[in-house]
Amino acid sequence: MSQKVSAPVPAATDILEVRHVSVSYQDNGLGIFGKRKEQEVLHDVSFSVHRDEFFGLVGESGCGKSTLGRAILGLLPFSGTILVDGMAHKTAGREAFTRKIQAVFQDPMSALDPRKTIGFTMEEPLKVHHMGDKAARRAAVSRMLEQVGLDASYASRTPEELSGGQRQRVCIGAALLAEPELVIADECVSALDVSVGAQILNLFREIDAAKDFAMLFISHNLSVVYYLCDRIGVMYRGRIVELGTADDICLHPLHPYTKLLLHAIPDFSAKITGETDPKQEAEFETPREDPPGACCFYHRCPHAGPSCLAQPALRTISGEHACACVLAGTGREETP
Ligand SMILES: Nc1ncnc2c1ncn2[C@@H]1O[C@H](COP(=O)(O)OP(=O)(O)O)[C@@H](O)[C@H]1O
Ligand SMILES: [Mg+2]
Repeated sequence: MSQKVSAPVPAATDILEVRHVSVSYQDNGLGIFGKRKEQEVLHDVSFSVHRDEFFGLVGESGCGKSTLGRAILGLLPFSGTILVDGMAHKTAGREAFTRKIQAVFQDPMSALDPRKTIGFTMEEPLKVHHMGDKAARRAAVSRMLEQVGLDASYASRTPEELSGGQRQRVCIGAALLAEPELVIADECVSALDVSVGAQILNLFREIDAAKDFAMLFISHNLSVVYYLCDRIGVMYRGRIVELGTADDICLHPLHPYTKLLLHAIPDFSAKITGETDPKQEAEFETPREDPPGACCFYHRCPHAGPSCLAQPALRTISGEHACACVLAGTGREETP
């Protein structure tokens, strides 16, 4: 790709910088000369997360959100640059790095050892990072349990004795105990009942008001992301196609894919157009063939034309609002 545009943000203020990151997975099939084929699933992704902000990464299943999260956590090889607090994985020590960045995943049970008490598990990151003596660590665990809405006595229980929502509260508490500067939460409410998930989102908002950390909140659910996040990146087929404040994305969307996501949410579509767009829905149901190298949304886009035969770069339209669509900002992208 010839044009490469980073997220429109000054570097020094950001807790996370992702610059031109691509990730490939090995395909199961064999390619030429019997070599394993590689399939690129993230293509030249660039964005930043400001200190103390909640940044939402949204897009349908399979678009590469978790892959991006895993690359940021240093769990996957990637090309490009990822800096956490200005440090790259390779140069920063593992310990310094893991203290700055913590993760909360979809399935709290897999993150908790069923044989260990909640207190033991939550104390673990404090031990690893040599934070406080035993008494201080125990006191910190008690305080954190209360902060995430559980009684301090839960420290002596095992994961089986807790509900799914309570386990996720424990995972969030364990992640926050090491006082990270960045938390990556990947679909962390998706496995919970709607009401339990809503309580967890409210917990994040309460903790956000009291603590200093940034969050990369990964979800397929745009309404959840809008509720929680300051800025949002919309992903489609391994690219960020639109980036902006939560209001930019949800009240003034520019990319046809963002509009499609919003049309799927009744409240939002009513706010934006007052009605659904029949043309958009028809195209959504019958994807057309992609010419090679075309815009990643070509196959589903109701506006696709000759100017869409190359992948557009993410370009700033106004303020922090950026979009990877040739029609964005031209006045021709408006849907009726
Ligand atoms: N370990 C893996 N090996 C091969 N392909 C993978 C692997 N993990 C994910 N993929 C593929 O990468 C793409 C992105 O997956 P993922 O990052 O999990 O998306 P999301 O989190 O948005 O649902 C998908 O096409 C998925 O099938
Ligand atoms: Mg995922």
